[in-house]
Amino acid sequence: MSNKPIGIFDSGVGGTSIWKEIHQLLPHEHTIYLSDSINAPYGPKGKERITELSIKNTELLLKKDCKLIVVACNTATTNAIDYLRQNYSIPFIGIEPAIKPAALHTQTKAIGILATKGTLTSALFSKTSGKFAKDIKVIEREGKGIVELIESGKLNSDEMKALLAEYIQPMLDANIDHLVLGCTHYPYLVPILLELLPKHVKIIDSGEAVARQTKAVLEKHNLLNITRVSPKTEFYTNGNIGVMHSLLEQKNSVEFLKF
Ligand code: DGL
Repeated sequence: MSNKPIGIFDSGVGGTSIWKEIHQLLPHEHTIYLSDSINAPYGPKGKERITELSIKNTELLLKKDCKLIVVACNTATTNAIDYLRQNYSIPFIGIEPAIKPAALHTQTKAIGILATKGTLTSALFSKTSGKFAKDIKVIEREGKGIVELIESGKLNSDEMKALLAEYIQPMLDANIDHLVLGCTHYPYLVPILLELLPKHVKIIDSGEAVARQTKAVLEKHNLLNITRVSPKTEFYTNGNIGVMHSLLEQKNSVEFLKF
């Protein structure tokens, strides 16, 4: 039983999509969200640098007395979560592209995966796709430039639409029926993707599963907050406060913090 906060970090504002799922499923939990926007995107950085940045974010959340950390970033999870789990004693929850459900349900035997370079080139990703998708066609595309556009407030821009249309075209040519969103920034693209994709293509993301896993791990470690005080949510960014505000539906306040 613990009323300490859950810590959540991402390379930027994208992980707020995960925060929303966690907050909805676990409304009594205190949460602290860190957006390392100044260092976004993590995708093109190598494993070593991604691990260094993940350590920095973890240390800050530990200073704020978090009981569990959600690595709300596919790139940081696939490159650094093993290190974090080996070196810190609190539980870590990660996020990876949801290849398994897509591979299980595809009728056309073709699925698309949009993710960052760091995720697509990671050992964890190739292990998961080797395990679950070896008998189907997997069309992988790096979402180059997408995180940068979202971080600079250009989510609903013509530039974004053009990039997405370009990235999904080879997937449509291969007759995919599932598109896996392998980056926590991408759930914010769903309205645009729905315009671009034929109706039968299902979009899959892992946000809800991460929230369920967070709940299960808190239960297992007896860490659920059972006090009924109103939950506190704290959002910190070392980048643009306005961009983060625009993605948070409620009027949660966001603080600028150098880290
Ligand atoms: N939200 C991060 C992810 O899930 C974006 C990575 C990046 O900054 O390139 O991978």
